[in-house]
Amino acid sequence: MKLFIDSADPGEIAKLAETGLVDGVTTNPSLAAKIGRDYVDVLEEICAKVAGPISAEVLATDVAGMISEGKRFAKIAKNIAVKVPLTWDGLKACRALADTGIKINVTLCFSPVQAMVAAKAGASFISPFIGRLDDAGHDGMELIREIRKIYDNYAFKTEILAASIRGIPHVREAALAHADIATIPPDVFKALLNHPLTDKGLAAFLADAKKAGVRIRDE
Ligand code: E4P
Repeated sequence: MKLFIDSADPGEIAKLAETGLVDGVTTNPSLAAKIGRDYVDVLEEICAKVAGPISAEVLATDVAGMISEGKRFAKIAKNIAVKVPLTWDGLKACRALADTGIKINVTLCFSPVQAMVAAKAGASFISPFIGRLDDAGHDGMELIREIRKIYDNYAFKTEILAASIRGIPHVREAALAHADIATIPPDVFKALLNHPLTDKGLAAFLADAKKAGVRIRDE
């Protein structure tokens, strides 16, 4: 499964990219608002730090506006993926931009049928929002499972990008449900390796080696 960072903070993304495990980045207007800088400047910085797809979300809600903003974003770098909302205008813009070779991430997906229609419109990525569904009393992960089934039934190539992830259990379940990508908030990404038995086991190995004077001689 590919791991994306769900953030618009270039500094934080750069630090996490040092792991060599960051395959892409997703941003949205709310994340951009937290940074308080020009969105294009921020996207330029992020694109220079991570080679994989960087999602940039349009602010326009009409087809012409979304196409215009999408083309502007696509000029920033080759790895930009334009993010459009799952509306009729969004899918028209998706088709128009995809036909010019621009990768599109269709966002705000809350139903399997929405995901099927987005795939037909040429989306490279579909973003089902797991956490927000769970918050509303639904089963977010069931949406991932159903989209997987539909996409496999018809051999749609659109990648399932599990979004609105709130913790490690979401990452685990998304991997089990065969999502292609999980976009993970920085704090959750940092916790991916946490396990008390790993810490305990390492401490014991090092204590045993120290006690017995184990050395690694130079070549
Ligand atoms: C990513 O593409 C989405 O915009 C993001 O995961 C939404 O997450 P939230 O529900 O925590 O805002």
